[in-house]
Amino acid sequence: MRYLLDTADLAAIRRFCDIFPVAGVTSNPSIVKKEGKIDFFAHMNEIRSIIGPGKPLHIQVTALDTEGMIRDADTLLTKVDKEVYVKVPVTMEGIRAIKRLKAQGVHVTGTAIYSSQQGFLAMEAGADCIAPYFNRMENMGLDPDGIIAALAEMIRLYQYPTEILAASFKNAGQVDRAFLAGAQTATMDPSILEGVLTQPHITNAVAAFDADWKSVFGECTLAEL
Ligand code: E4P
Repeated sequence: MRYLLDTADLAAIRRFCDIFPVAGVTSNPSIVKKEGKIDFFAHMNEIRSIIGPGKPLHIQVTALDTEGMIRDADTLLTKVDKEVYVKVPVTMEGIRAIKRLKAQGVHVTGTAIYSSQQGFLAMEAGADCIAPYFNRMENMGLDPDGIIAALAEMIRLYQYPTEILAASFKNAGQVDRAFLAGAQTATMDPSILEGVLTQPHITNAVAAFDADWKSVFGECTLAEL
């Protein structure tokens, strides 16, 4: 299981990379919008410097046509670095861009995936990662667990080198379900990770341990005995 941060908030990326086992960062144009009119490439380079050179940084193209997507990809590789995973929506134009980018050896992530068929096509076109949108599928009355399981089964059966990078989560339970269905990786807003470790029953349990220890040993910690 690998956890990625689905945000472009630099302070959050710094804080959460320090605390959690973060494997990389993703964003999309809607996530970038939350940061305002940033100096886009400086911002993406800052994310790279926070996470380091070895972790995947997924950045989405904004053009809607194949030629434009390829120009966007070239720009990302030049102005950020050659290791960027270029996120391409799996549309008619996008699938052509994925084929061409893979022929050039670029890391590619197929995104905006709402069906197993869309994922299969992206795998066959050579995408390194595919991003099924868990919460959005659930909102549509689809079966995200079954769709991710079908993608995982095809990867296993035909030994595709593709990784499932599940996305679009609104709670930690959905993340668990994506992993259990066969996603190797999941990307999420930092608040989902924080929520896992800050539930009142956890803090109450720790407060009770603290009170019991102090009732016997006072303010001395174990290391100070
Ligand atoms: C990944 O980066 C996806 O674009 C993202 O998780 C979509 O999330 P949303 O459904 O919350 O917009």
